[in-house]
Amino acid sequence: MEVVHTIADLQSRIKAYRRRNDQAVGFVPTMGFLHEGHASLMNKARSQCGLVVLSIFVNPLQFGPGEDFERYPRDAERDLAVAEAAGVDLVFMPSVSEMYPSPTRTTVSVSDVTTRLCGASRPGHFDGVATVVSKLFHIVQPDQAFFGLKDAQQVAVIEQMVQDLNMPIEIVPCPTLREADGLAMSSRNVYLSPEERQQALVLSQSLQIAKEYIQSKSSQGFTSTELASLVRAHIETAPLAVVDYAEVLSYPTLEPFDHSHSISSLIIALAVKFGKTRLIDNLILQVR
Ligand code: PAJ
Repeated sequence: MEVVHTIADLQSRIKAYRRRNDQAVGFVPTMGFLHEGHASLMNKARSQCGLVVLSIFVNPLQFGPGEDFERYPRDAERDLAVAEAAGVDLVFMPSVSEMYPSPTRTTVSVSDVTTRLCGASRPGHFDGVATVVSKLFHIVQPDQAFFGLKDAQQVAVIEQMVQDLNMPIEIVPCPTLREADGLAMSSRNVYLSPEERQQALVLSQSLQIAKEYIQSKSSQGFTSTELASLVRAHIETAPLAVVDYAEVLSYPTLEPFDHSHSISSLIIALAVKFGKTRLIDNLILQVR
């Protein structure tokens, strides 16, 4: 495994690989503090691609004022061990000035799918994500890029961007990895106090309750409002939980869910704060 810090070094390695091989180049963009969820994306890339490129870059552009950019957890040494164990070939760890050498005057902004959920709660967040992912895609020029459905709205945004801008890259969505008790793995879980960590189980539990409710109502049907209320009520049984949103929408369009299509995908999407820590989780289901 090689670690590079500059765009020039990265591109010369990838060019050299491409000269000698016609196998796919796979790319996994991350912000580091890697866990098994990230490793699952690297493993998937390893199984499908000849060259696996990982980026570790905490992107200031996608953090709003008062968010956790400065305190975002970082551990480069451990990250490199995780990457090595997952079979990554090339790690790109640029500095902020390498990625943004002068004031940025070009922004990639995706409309509609960014209106609700985290797009509404974190103004400018998805412009920051789309802009950095677009830059990374131009730098790496991968054949395939791997993203986790833990951030389902992010997947929808990136898929829309790739389609709209004719980027010749296949986006590979990957399932959410969870701790044994159901909590979705996240770099931000380290912020939680033991009490918050315990109460954070209401997120995955409420998704499970929603799934069972949908199954029990399969013949009578249900409304998205009643489903959202059920989920919110369970989250609110945790005294430390403050619900940012608990919504039921269609996926991947992220429009109000409606039963008019005979089979469609529905997302139950949650963002819940425990103290200063904001956690997200979701469940995507095919419903008749
Ligand atoms: P980060 O939060 O580090 O996540 C990197 C990738 O890992 C994302 O595709 C995310 O969905 C995936 N991931 C995180 N937790 C996961 C889990 N429990 N199971 C499966 N996959 C999981 O998402 C970002 O970074 C940034 O926005 C980025 C795309 C790198 C742009 O800066």
